[in-house]
Amino acid sequence: MNLMQPPAIQLIVEDHEALAAVLRALRDAVERAGRPGSAPDFDALRAMLFYLDEMPARVHHASESELLFPRIRERCPALRPVLDRLEAEHERGESAVRELEHALTAWQVMGDVHHESFELLVRTHVNGYLGHMEVEESYVLPVALDFLSPADWRELAEALTRQRSELGASMAQSHRSLFARITLTHPLQKCPCKTSKFPS
Ligand SMILES: [Fe+2]
Ligand SMILES: [Fe+2]
Repeated sequence: MNLMQPPAIQLIVEDHEALAAVLRALRDAVERAGRPGSAPDFDALRAMLFYLDEMPARVHHASESELLFPRIRERCPALRPVLDRLEAEHERGESAVRELEHALTAWQVMGDVHHESFELLVRTHVNGYLGHMEVEESYVLPVALDFLSPADWRELAEALTRQRSELGASMAQSHRSLFARITLTHPLQKCPCKTSKFPS
């Protein structure tokens, strides 16, 4: 843990690292499945999409939209348009994953003719979501660090921890198990969007 980094930011950056690892694992797996002689592993692809649906919708977006962003809006009104855009992207991201799940089913039950359209949707979603996290890490969080007080960061850390514990230990455990299963074959990579202001 970096002592310069408020624990609330550390939680957000850890979520980003996990999401980035699964997004890249998904993109790599779909690319590999397009090579001659490689059969798609639909169970693995479905597990990745399930994680990308569950984790942001139930945990990460809630932490940002319900706790972190409102405090940043209050302390730094100039960021409100960016936060509006990021919140709209949360909603779009959640519906994009459901669209991906549908497109994966089409590929699985109707055959390879649907592989390319699934791959295109995956690339669009992966690039879009990595870009979303990059804006948060390289722009929003550094500005927030300048405007929020130590008391703000302390309250946010408490609120984030409370929010996550209210979701239940079993959900956190099942997210961790699913993440471990996915990254067993796709090792965790550092998120390149991480700025030097937030070293691990
Ligand atoms: Fe976000
Ligand atoms: Fe985020």
